[in-house]
Amino acid sequence: MYLSKEEERMLVGELGYAAQKAMEILVALGKIYDAEKLVPITSAHISGVSYANVGEDGLEFLEELASDGRVLVQTTLNPAGMDLDKWSLMGIDREFAENQLRVIDVYRRMGVKITCTCTPYLVGNEPRMGDHIAWSESSAVVYANSVIGAKTNRESGISALAAAITGRTPFYGLHLKENRQPTVEVRVPQPNGEFEFACLGMIVGRLVGDGIPLFRGILHAEPDELKALGAALASVGGVPMFHVDGITPEAGEYVDRSMERLTVTESDIKSVKEEYASEVDPDLIFLGCPHLSLMELKRIASFLAGKNVRKKLWLCCSKSVKLEADKLGITQVIEAAGGTVVCDTCPIVAPVKDLGVTAVATNSAKGAWYSRNLNNLCVRLLSTEECLREATK
Ligand code: F3S
Repeated sequence: MYLSKEEERMLVGELGYAAQKAMEILVALGKIYDAEKLVPITSAHISGVSYANVGEDGLEFLEELASDGRVLVQTTLNPAGMDLDKWSLMGIDREFAENQLRVIDVYRRMGVKITCTCTPYLVGNEPRMGDHIAWSESSAVVYANSVIGAKTNRESGISALAAAITGRTPFYGLHLKENRQPTVEVRVPQPNGEFEFACLGMIVGRLVGDGIPLFRGILHAEPDELKALGAALASVGGVPMFHVDGITPEAGEYVDRSMERLTVTESDIKSVKEEYASEVDPDLIFLGCPHLSLMELKRIASFLAGKNVRKKLWLCCSKSVKLEADKLGITQVIEAAGGTVVCDTCPIVAPVKDLGVTAVATNSAKGAWYSRNLNNLCVRLLSTEECLREATK
């Protein structure tokens, strides 16, 4: 792989310990994927932040990098295992909390913005179309490639951090135009709202695996709906990017191409719900996987105004979205009803089983899938309104 003079200097350690380790990681990755060179990036986003994932060995490695490592580009952080301020109210034990705060501190020292959200594009980490970036967190990757038109592979937390420290990433995969073409055309009926977009993502993710679908038949889609679609595609399948004819920025380049075709019907979309219809009453209802936008929080507050929440209801978002919601009086309406706006974390990365949760309800296909397959919980997949009705009945 070709390396510039500066990249060579990083690799031999002339620019410090962290730059050397990071360059070793990127060169190894580049060799595996046959990258001809590294490409400069404008942004990075790092996942794998929960202490439950990082552990002591991971923390030791991060501490070593932080001895002289600093990120060279705007870099944000995925959710942690708890609300960084209100962890005791969540019922998180002190030992876990202290370890989680050590992880956060080490990222802070490296210059990473402590956003703790899976929606970096809602909190100021907004690459432009065509930018090369290095993001981990599959739902953010698919959003960046598909909706923004920036270029990123599905990085791991560590390769995204290495890219942030060096300001570069190996030039392969979705950084190359030829790998951004659709592999399968999917004819669909117009989904109705975020929930149906999420169900559609679950079906198509299963069908196309790590392919790139081009959707036809979607006449309108809000950014929040594309967020829900992408999160499901990327988790149930391994989809790194999708196109929607007439809507996403690169779709127009491929509309005349012939390719394998699939059709999804309205009844296919409705059938997803039946797969996640646990009879066990949920002890936690959560919305915000991926994290809620201000618009979504506002709609939830309108529903909850004047009602009483009778079950544990978590509405997950970034701290910066919550601050805006505070200013607009949205948080106050939600809290007056008895809901909780949870920041910095989500029920997938927080140790919810330790909090006594055994059954959940959510409107998120990704959240449902991980709750069942990773956290072994009983799951109901419901529309947003059904979740809120369940919480208030
Ligand atoms: Fe975000 Fe957690 Fe879902 S990180 S995408 S809310 S699993």
